[in-house]
Amino acid sequence: MNETAGKLYVMGVGPGASDLITVRAARILSELDVIYTPTGKKGAKSLAHAIIEEYLSPKTEVCTYHFLMKADMAAKQAVWDEVAQTLQEEVASGRKVGFITLGDPMLFSTWVFLLQRLVSQQMASPSWLEIVPGITSFSAIAAASAMPLAMENQTLAVISCTASEALLEQALLNHDCIVLMKVYSRFPLIRDLLQRHNLLEHALMMADATLPTEQCWRDLATLSLSEKEWGQGLSYFSTILVNKNGQSLG
Ligand SMILES: C[S@@+](CC[C@H](N)C(=O)[O-])C[C@H]1O[C@@H](n2cnc3c(N)ncnc32)[C@H](O)[C@@H]1O
Repeated sequence: MNETAGKLYVMGVGPGASDLITVRAARILSELDVIYTPTGKKGAKSLAHAIIEEYLSPKTEVCTYHFLMKADMAAKQAVWDEVAQTLQEEVASGRKVGFITLGDPMLFSTWVFLLQRLVSQQMASPSWLEIVPGITSFSAIAAASAMPLAMENQTLAVISCTASEALLEQALLNHDCIVLMKVYSRFPLIRDLLQRHNLLEHALMMADATLPTEQCWRDLATLSLSEKEWGQGLSYFSTILVNKNGQSLG
């Protein structure tokens, strides 16, 4: 790859508040030729886009792409192939290309599926690609709720609630502090597991952390959401933190 060719900048944009992005990401955002922003729904502006809008130059072209969240694997892979190919072509044409992800790009992010494709084509060298870390949702939640994550010899596990019940239970049993991401419809199962292992009083759930709609539940034992709310009303952006060695300091 020619050193004077374009470059891909993948930036974590943090959990939601626009002032929780890094100074480096803000600088790069103001210098891009084109930015690719994700959207869960066709035609809709993504949260990631809304977070960084104020840092973009008016000269930057904005392209949205629609990652299929509920499609079968073959359809999802076809989109990842297509977006990875488009990014390669943009960089090869000499442009400064941005790609944004919520939180940190290396944690539960679709970006990693694109990275795998770029690596397999030897397109991930430092002259071609820069990944800018972001504040991950669980650090923002730990800070907002004054809930420590891990200290000294304690262990910290980060797991998606899409994992099997056995894996989730293992994480709860084997670690001092557990971050449970992608809670939504699995909340009843998680609450039962926490109850079974006497962990409810050491847990809290936060939705939409750092956004104006932020909500924090510190007593999951008495939380009364309707069945409908578990599945639909509970924000996709909901995370549970468990720390066996203490409760929230807040
Ligand atoms: C696809 S993962 C993205 C994780 C992201 N890369 C990160 O570093 O936080 C989506 C999950 O992250 C968590 N999440 C992201 N933003 C959040 C927020 N503002 N408040 C609470 N949880 C959030 C939720 O558990 C959500 O289901």
